[in-house]
Amino acid sequence: MTEKEINIKFHEYSSIDELPKQDQELALAAIEAMRGSYAPYSHFNVGAAVRLSNGEIVKGANQENAAFPSGLCAERTAMFYAGATYPDKSMVSIAIAGGVMGRLAKAPATPCGACRQVMAQYQLKGGKPMSVIMLGDGQIWKFDRVDDILPLIFDSI
Ligand code: THU
Repeated sequence: MTEKEINIKFHEYSSIDELPKQDQELALAAIEAMRGSYAPYSHFNVGAAVRLSNGEIVKGANQENAAFPSGLCAERTAMFYAGATYPDKSMVSIAIAGGVMGRLAKAPATPCGACRQVMAQYQLKGGKPMSVIMLGDGQIWKFDRVDDILPLIFDSI
C-alpha cells in the first residue's frame, strides 16, 4: 500500500481590484447577476458569469421551485444558456457570487458537486482549461482549471 496525496493550487485575492482586468469584469458581472436570483425558499442569492472564447459574458442566477429538485443553481443556469446559445464557443472562465439581498457572503461561493461536473463537461467540450473564480467579501479564490475543484474528474464514456 502506498499513501498518496492530491495537492490543489489556487490563487487568493483580498479584493476584486487585485484580479487580472478580464476577471474583474467577470466578477462584477457575477455580482450583478445576483439580481436575477429567484430564491423564495432559501433566500440565498447566487449569480454566475461565464466568459466565452469570443470575449462575451453570459450571466445566470439561481432559480428555485416549490418542487425543490426542479430549481437550478446559478452556475448551471449560466452554463446551459451559454451552451445552448453559443454552441461553437468554449467557456474560458466562470465567476460565482453568493449572498443575501445583493450583499456578498464572507466566504467565497463554492459551487456544488453537480455544477462542478457540468463545468467539467464544458471544459472537455471546449478542449481548454476553464478557470473558476469564487467570490467572497474580502476573500476571492481563483482555480485555473475545473480539475482543481473536481479531482479525479469523470470524463470517460
Ligand atoms: N446554489 C447555487 O446557485 N449555486 C451553488 O453552487 C450552490 C447553491 C443555490 C441553490 C439554491 O437556490 C440556493 O443556492 C441555496 O442552496
